[in-house]
Amino acid sequence: MRKKGIIVLNFGSQYVQLIARRVRELGVFSEIVPYYITPDEIRKKEPVGIIFSGGPASVYEEDAPKPDPLIYELGIPVLGICYGLQVMTFQLGGRVERSKTQEYGRAKLKIVKECELFEGLPESFDVWMSHADKVIDVPERFETFAVSENSPHAVIGNKNKKLYGIQFHPEVTHTQYGKEILANFIFKICKGQKNWEMGNFIEEKVKEIREKVKDKKVISAVSGGVDSTVASVLVHKAVGDNLRCIFVDNGLLRKNERESIEKLLKSMGLPLKVVYASKIFLERLKGVEDPEEKRKIIGNTFIEVFEKEAEKIENAEFLLQGTLYPDVIESAHVEGASKIKTHHNVGGLPEKMNLKLIEPFRELFKDEVREIGKLLNIPDEILYRHPFPGPGLAIRIIGEVREEDLKILREADYIFTEELKKKGLYRNIWQAFAVLLPVKSVGVMGDVRTYERVIALRAVESVDGMTADWYRLPYNFLDRVMRRIINEVEGVNRVVYDISSKPPSTIEWE
Ligand code: XMP
Repeated sequence: MRKKGIIVLNFGSQYVQLIARRVRELGVFSEIVPYYITPDEIRKKEPVGIIFSGGPASVYEEDAPKPDPLIYELGIPVLGICYGLQVMTFQLGGRVERSKTQEYGRAKLKIVKECELFEGLPESFDVWMSHADKVIDVPERFETFAVSENSPHAVIGNKNKKLYGIQFHPEVTHTQYGKEILANFIFKICKGQKNWEMGNFIEEKVKEIREKVKDKKVISAVSGGVDSTVASVLVHKAVGDNLRCIFVDNGLLRKNERESIEKLLKSMGLPLKVVYASKIFLERLKGVEDPEEKRKIIGNTFIEVFEKEAEKIENAEFLLQGTLYPDVIESAHVEGASKIKTHHNVGGLPEKMNLKLIEPFRELFKDEVREIGKLLNIPDEILYRHPFPGPGLAIRIIGEVREEDLKILREADYIFTEELKKKGLYRNIWQAFAVLLPVKSVGVMGDVRTYERVIALRAVESVDGMTADWYRLPYNFLDRVMRRIINEVEGVNRVVYDISSKPPSTIEWE
């Protein structure tokens, strides 16, 4: 990991990634670490500053997360946000209490004493609060720099030791001057320097990958999605045709998908091999109704097909994966979490094939990967594609996957997507697709009774796929899509729109 950045201690805030993003937007590297990191581990990372995130706990709860108090003695500036402020106050001898009037949403912050955090800012502005506890007494040698109606110590600090705490959330866009406050902390208090820029990142990575790979070969499983494509183009820049891209057509793709991805990837100069494997996938899925069973079959078959193809490549030593930073953090935190769905990707491949991993985006967020993609001239059609799950249409046909059902679903899905693009709605939506339900309903077409299938349309907005809300599509848009699907897709006589959020539902139906 990079030195001279900001480390963010994670106390379980839903905004922890946002804090890291904001710091990077200011041109400074940031890394999220668990709150129980030891002072020694921190020292090794040589950060210029430390931020404590917020979190759902209350400091007086028995198992409330608390950092090692020696962190305050490292001589590295600390900024505690919300719970971060409270835990710092508590550990340093101040007092925190459950507040009678909780503060959620907008609050007016009033600065009562000068402080480097507020340099260049007005005396009063709006901030975003979300807390039930508040600081009642500040620790010794701490001062109060700002107040709000419900927080008598909304911003506190010890200038000598460079320890600061703020009750509101500077990382959310609803806080006015949030970015300026973070910038003041990083550049004025921590004396940080800009060390994070995407152009440099590309150059650095290209050099690093070239040195690592030498004249060996790198295999890449491409899907046409953002991460695998941008990763492949980057590695291609580093090692040229020592990169070998493999695209597996599992027969569960959308209409025209293989053709268009093949064309796009080839147009970018990627050495691509397309493997036509739909027969084996569909055969193994015959009679299988359970979603997890489908996922398992598809995942294992993918590994098998891919492995067979990769074995033909001599001198292959590396496997490229588009792992993103959130995947890295999440997989470190899912212990004991309940398993909702097994999300199939190319996991399992490297151990099995004895390949070393190359993961150039392990430190990046999705929009940073898009930024790199732009710098590498990758077409928007790829950079702004909706996520598409590994098991593809198989988890959008509820129950058994049959060839004739795939045909129906492909057509309906194509119409929906085409209309979204035509009306300029596609980019506002995180994911939109059609689902084929295993029921028939009665209809009447041209005075004749019909008894046909039902298509459900799903469109959601989301930031990371972890939570989602249904997208408010205009009624006349839905009307048009319904008409087109029923008129143009044989075997469908009813269209419904899914208005469930996640939670309690999930984005996919299976
Ligand atoms: P859910 O349905 O869990 O989906 O709310 C969240 C995001 O993950 C995608 N998804 C998958 N992706 N393999 C994948 O590669 C899977 O098995 C899988 N299941 C869901 C889903 O499309 C959404 O973007």
